[in-house]
Amino acid sequence: MLEVKQVSLHYGAAIALRKVSIQAKQGEVTCILGRNGVGKTSMLRAITGAHPISGGEIVWNGENISRLPLYDRARRGIAWVPQGRDVFPLLTVRENLETGFAVLPRGKRTFPDDMYDLFPILKTMQRRRGGDLSGGQQQQLAIARALVTRPKLLVLDEPTEGIQPSIIKDIGRVIDLLRSRGEMAIVLVEQYFDFARDLAQTIAVMDRGDIVLYGRREDLDEDDVRRRLSV
Ligand SMILES: Nc1ncnc2c1ncn2[C@@H]1O[C@H](COP(=O)(O)OP(=O)(O)OP(=O)(O)O)[C@@H](O)[C@H]1O
Ligand SMILES: [Mg+2]
Repeated sequence: MLEVKQVSLHYGAAIALRKVSIQAKQGEVTCILGRNGVGKTSMLRAITGAHPISGGEIVWNGENISRLPLYDRARRGIAWVPQGRDVFPLLTVRENLETGFAVLPRGKRTFPDDMYDLFPILKTMQRRRGGDLSGGQQQQLAIARALVTRPKLLVLDEPTEGIQPSIIKDIGRVIDLLRSRGEMAIVLVEQYFDFARDLAQTIAVMDRGDIVLYGRREDLDEDDVRRRLSV
């Protein structure tokens, strides 16, 4: 289980997270919702170690990982699908996937057996350059690359941003399948409530660096959530 406890994060003098707390459990999707610029990506940077926190604690399966660098967190099973995907445009699809091997011991550098079942398009396109893929295909590639590292915690930053509806559905199905296997905790950042509601067991709504609503999906008032997202 992931526990974010009273975490603050600054960029220079500017504060992006104000003592925020959330938990993410194995076998569940925890969704972080919020409008532009409220601190969603900053929350994921705090969790993955992409940016240092200035207060509080990040605890992963009982261990305080607050000061571990990103690659040590990756070795402990924390994988990040970044906003904008960060696919390497000049590497082939296969080579992009192989970059996930970096966090695995030498003897374990294989692709997951079901990777191409989850994302058949990546098999078809293995030899194409990352930059030649559509936005939706790049998003699938970014998720698959994260799965290559065999994560126990998968964090996804707006995987539906700028993507056509048919691929959004495919991505939603994959996230739900991964959750249903019960082997990983998933933290999903979204701006669109409809996508989040269908997938999440727990929802946190952020505003200006704070968590303003937090609870089990069935306990949250939908209108309240929508209001926080539209103001
Ligand atoms: N590297 C940075 N340096 C300085 N300020 C930053 C940096 N990254 C983000 N910020 C600021 O921190 C605040 C939170 O940004 P963050 O990227 O976490 O928001 P977000 O909710 O992910 O937004 P979006 O929906 O646009 O992705 C914003 O005011 C943003 O301008
Ligand atoms: Mg963001």
